[in-house]
Amino acid sequence: MRQVNVFYLNEGEILAHPILDANGRILLTSGVKLTNLYIHKLQVLGVDTVLIEDDRLDDVAIQMAITPRTKESAYKAVKGVRYCIETNRLIRSNELKDMLKRMISDLLSFEGILGYISDFRGYDDFMFHHSVNTTIFALVLGMANKYSEAKLLELGLGVLMHDVGKVKIPNVLLNKLEKLTDEEFTEIKQHSKYGFEILRKIDDFGLISAHVALQHHERWDGSGYPRGLKGTAIHEYARLAALSDVYEALTSKRVYRDAIQPYQAYEYITGHSGILFEPSLINILSTRIAIYPEGSGVILNNGMYGNVVKQNVGYPDRPHVRMFYQADELLQPPVDYNLMEHPSLLITGSENR
Ligand SMILES: [Fe+2]
Ligand SMILES: [Fe+2]
Repeated sequence: MRQVNVFYLNEGEILAHPILDANGRILLTSGVKLTNLYIHKLQVLGVDTVLIEDDRLDDVAIQMAITPRTKESAYKAVKGVRYCIETNRLIRSNELKDMLKRMISDLLSFEGILGYISDFRGYDDFMFHHSVNTTIFALVLGMANKYSEAKLLELGLGVLMHDVGKVKIPNVLLNKLEKLTDEEFTEIKQHSKYGFEILRKIDDFGLISAHVALQHHERWDGSGYPRGLKGTAIHEYARLAALSDVYEALTSKRVYRDAIQPYQAYEYITGHSGILFEPSLINILSTRIAIYPEGSGVILNNGMYGNVVKQNVGYPDRPHVRMFYQADELLQPPVDYNLMEHPSLLITGSENR
């Protein structure tokens, strides 16, 4: 299995993993042989990379932390809440809680490293994927902090709904391509307060979940909003939400920019440890996420190009790799490295071709 940018796909290649649309529906299922028409459609839809079968990497397995069924019910639940808010209907939290319980049990039985969180690589209009994926990251951080199921549920509800206040912000603002004016940015910033107002009125949600929405843009050094809270004055769930939110947002496509690679997002986050984010959470994240997921393409400082085969837990930048090219020349046979055993070899870039 290999991760490939849609602009490098060839006719006849076989999908190793389904591709979903923004609503969580399957566009193309795994096992499908790609035609030029399919490839063109994927490019037009804005999908950036897909996973394809590759005999040379058939020992590479994709481990999805969340089952497709749980994911689908998560999208449905988030969409359902949005519909209720827009039509002034009562929000019932039972369905959300049942879904979160399934998500928690999936994550508890998953012992791997989070690599491919999302089956969707395009642009996510209504942030359904953003909400669900951010929740997955936050729950993983909560589990590493040994939260009880009750705490995980509270955290999960809050993170799932952290951006719910955006329903009150006009779409033209949220999807604006040009730089926002100061007034527009001030308006967008209101979404955390709007979210708090919406959530605190839902009886069985609990006020803490509402506070996650209110505080998810607060930053460790006090530079966030709306209140400029600092350090542990920010609710612990909101600290988890803040880190998960930023990591997810950076690694996904937005209407005004492309997704950045996980390792670049990781560099940004570690570079802001103790400034924007709580340092201990970054340490946890570094042991639980794959910044070079299995199957992704990497370039080494010796000029070789190949793909990631396996993770080394706790060392996200030093996985097992299989190299196929030296510059443009095919290596026969390919060369395997466990980067833990080759301290002089470094990954200098990532490219999915
Ligand atoms: Fe937000
Ligand atoms: Fe967000």
